[in-house]
Amino acid sequence: MPYSHIPVLLPEVLELLHLLPGQSVIDATLGGGGYTRALEEAVGPKGRVLAIDLDADAIEAFESRIKNQESSKRIKVVHGNFSDIESIAEKHSFAPVSAIVADIGLSSYELDEAGRGISFQKDEPLDMRFNAESGITASKILADYSEEELTNIFKLFGEERYSAVIARNIVRNRGKAPVTMTLELTQIISTSIPSRLQHTAQDSFRRIFQALRIEVNGELKNLEKFLPVAFGLLEPGGVLAVVSFHSLEDRIVKQYFQSLRGDCICPKDFPICVCGKSPQAEVLTKKPITAKGAELADNSRAKPAKLRAIKKL
Ligand SMILES: C[S@@+](CC[C@H](N)C(=O)[O-])C[C@H]1O[C@@H](n2cnc3c(N)ncnc32)[C@H](O)[C@@H]1O
Repeated sequence: MPYSHIPVLLPEVLELLHLLPGQSVIDATLGGGGYTRALEEAVGPKGRVLAIDLDADAIEAFESRIKNQESSKRIKVVHGNFSDIESIAEKHSFAPVSAIVADIGLSSYELDEAGRGISFQKDEPLDMRFNAESGITASKILADYSEEELTNIFKLFGEERYSAVIARNIVRNRGKAPVTMTLELTQIISTSIPSRLQHTAQDSFRRIFQALRIEVNGELKNLEKFLPVAFGLLEPGGVLAVVSFHSLEDRIVKQYFQSLRGDCICPKDFPICVCGKSPQAEVLTKKPITAKGAELADNSRAKPAKLRAIKKL
């Protein structure tokens, strides 16, 4: 099956990374390989690209595509978690590097074709793992988590108003039979929201599915671990760019980038600065860059994307 994904905000990412021939760079999320290919082109025949992905399907599809091509000598593809970027980069002699990019979230293949129950549009087993080889599945979470734990993840990662009722109904239903398929879950969600709001049921499906996927893949934890370690791998002048797809991720990226600006945190009435904070990075995107015009018209999935970048001083 082809591993399909249309890269989002690629020209904007390349402009921020400002790559030069011969540089070594890391793509922390290979996906369909759109970014990796563009990075490889930008660093040229003397440059090198390390591309990481949690999804073995992405790795396999890309490796078979570049097999016997000149590029295969310059692109190192690794099946792994970007939260382990330090050890992966060191193992493959990619430290320090000139740029790191992470286009986080999921690929169109994972959403539409992988059969892992990430989308609520098709009736599939509730797996949701990016790495099908390890970790806990969504159906296991629905079977094992307490009502309170389910409520919390729906609230925290889905910002769903009816989290508590949905969690209660999941627990009630699983007493009769385990909740293993996407359609079973959407039915439970439907019955949990008031009848006058049935026309918005799809929004609740999307929020609950997002919450489960974030929990299954530890998405926010991985991002929190990745950012400082990736920053540490950059050479001075190196750029870290992150594309995120929901506000929870964007907030983490924004706050981390702001923390590197080293703004003085002394009380306002102190005559001189005593906190000793000094800037470690320049924030290249005062506001996040988002998709516009033609890109949005061609690819509606680009709509929530937010690109932020920093340059190490
Ligand atoms: C939006 S896609 C990347 C698309 C890619 N930029 C392209 O041009 O095709 C996100 C990818 O990140 C991967 N991913 C998600 N979390 C990851 C993690 N913690 N470590 C490594 N890869 C991850 C997913 O498996 C998916 O392939």
